[in-house]
Amino acid sequence: MPFTLEATCGRLVAIGLLAAGAASAQPDGAALFTQHCAACHQANGSGTVGLAPALQGEHWAKLGGDRGYLPMVLVHGLSGPIRVNGQTFVGSMPAFGQLDDAALAALATHLRRLQGGAENVTAADVKAARDQAGSPPQTRQRRTQILGQ
Ligand code: HEC
Repeated sequence: MPFTLEATCGRLVAIGLLAAGAASAQPDGAALFTQHCAACHQANGSGTVGLAPALQGEHWAKLGGDRGYLPMVLVHGLSGPIRVNGQTFVGSMPAFGQLDDAALAALATHLRRLQGGAENVTAADVKAARDQAGSPPQTRQRRTQILGQ
């Protein structure tokens, strides 16, 4: 039905424009998370079996305590086997370096709230990760160092 299809497309374009506007004015971490992360990790960070790990669990007490880890995942990506809530997960997390420091900081701060973390991730934290050379396997090495496993 062409009429229905057209209406649906119009709505999708409108949503896209709204999201773009929100991101450029003042980054809305929750909206950015929905836009860029929820398809794989779900809106509440609970993950998707076989696609992306949960972003919650006891290990985040240590991972969240390292200011550099989350920015490093976002700027450089992550790949290789990781253990999440007692299960081994093997996948590849794309880097999101195309988003600017303020947007990634807002996004990461929103994720810390979902994880129960109280601290803010700042644009300076993201810039520090960006200024440092990195790669998905290096992020995994850092994760292993932090968790000691
Ligand atoms: C295409 C699917 C996909 C998208 C989109 C995605 N991720 Fe991931 N993410 C993954 C996968 C897969 C892994 C696990 C990589 C591995 O196995 O080494 C991961 C891992 C992570 C980790 C590390 C978890 C840990 O326990 O160390 C964080 C943090 C993370 N993602 C956050 C995000 C955020 C924030 C976004 C949005 C900007 C996002 N992801 C978008 C697939 C995705």
